Amino acid sequence: MTDFQQFTQFYQQRIEQKLAACLVEEAESPEWLHQAMRYSSLGGGKRFRALLVYCCGHACGVSEDDLLDAGACAVELIHAYSLIHDDLPAMDNSDLRRGKPTCHLAFDEATAILAGDALQALAFEVLTTQTAALPAEKRLTMTIELAKACGTRGMAGGQALDLRSGQVNLTLTELIHLHHLKTGALIECSATIGALCANNLSPEKLQAIYSYAHHLGLAFQIKDDMLDVDGDTATLGKPKGIDDINQKTTFVSLLNYQGAQTFLLQEYEQAITALQKVNLVHPQLMNLAKFVINRNS
Ligand code: IPE
Ligand code: IPE
Ligand code: MG
Ligand code: MG
Ligand code: MG
Repeated sequence: MTDFQQFTQFYQQRIEQKLAACLVEEAESPEWLHQAMRYSSLGGGKRFRALLVYCCGHACGVSEDDLLDAGACAVELIHAYSLIHDDLPAMDNSDLRRGKPTCHLAFDEATAILAGDALQALAFEVLTTQTAALPAEKRLTMTIELAKACGTRGMAGGQALDLRSGQVNLTLTELIHLHHLKTGALIECSATIGALCANNLSPEKLQAIYSYAHHLGLAFQIKDDMLDVDGDTATLGKPKGIDDINQKTTFVSLLNYQGAQTFLLQEYEQAITALQKVNLVHPQLMNLAKFVINRNS
């Protein structure tokens, strides 16, 4: 196992424990709602957004992981909510997520909607209540950043554009914008939250972290579009080929597979360049970027 694999495994286990601790127990009423929330948040996922919080925090000089846990939980809770809603019949109508039946099939649609709603609320509760060791101003900035990343100029706006992408002829510029909103915004926010946990971080370094995540966020969704074509359902833990079924405009549908690969590598290079400009070439950030472009799930 490589150092990076050991590193990711360690933090995947850590975030799993932290998430388990902040989610309400299944036995508490309404039991089925708490069960659905735990079902969709625990026991799966690459935890890429949490890893970004930890890695960006470390790269900027944070040595105590305790300071990073709340942000890591918050972005993973938002992500889990977004996946539940993304899979609903009204959206992508998917039956498999993280190798298990989607939330609305394992429970029911109303419960899936509410589980998503409550996970989003929980993310903000955790971010605001479990960050007492950080200065109030930073906690406020993080909360604002997370709210923006979820809203109409972030994920929700991107999802709205995505759902219409089959009916309109998107240009490449429009598709890039869509991907930046639906996926990039939360990824940028994860990196920013990690960096904000550091003391005395220069505005240049904060901007470099943001720029790194901006390019990596787009790369992440380009790779997701590519895996929908050449991945396999068992490894992905979600149905391959669903973008085509739903007639989505993706990087592959617009540029073909090879064009998407070229674009992916360009975004990767730009992510790395952003760090090099300010001498923030931290091995964890380099490895995480490589992971985004080489992953098979
Ligand atoms: C899937 O995200 C949805 C996108 C925004 C592309 P991930 O690929 O991070 O899903 P998990 O968390 O590993 O299941
Ligand atoms: C989802 O994008 C982005 C979200 C905000 C959840 P996709 O619809 O491509 O994600 P997958 O492929 O279902 O994981
Ligand atoms: Mg979708
Ligand atoms: Mg989907
Ligand atoms: Mg996809």
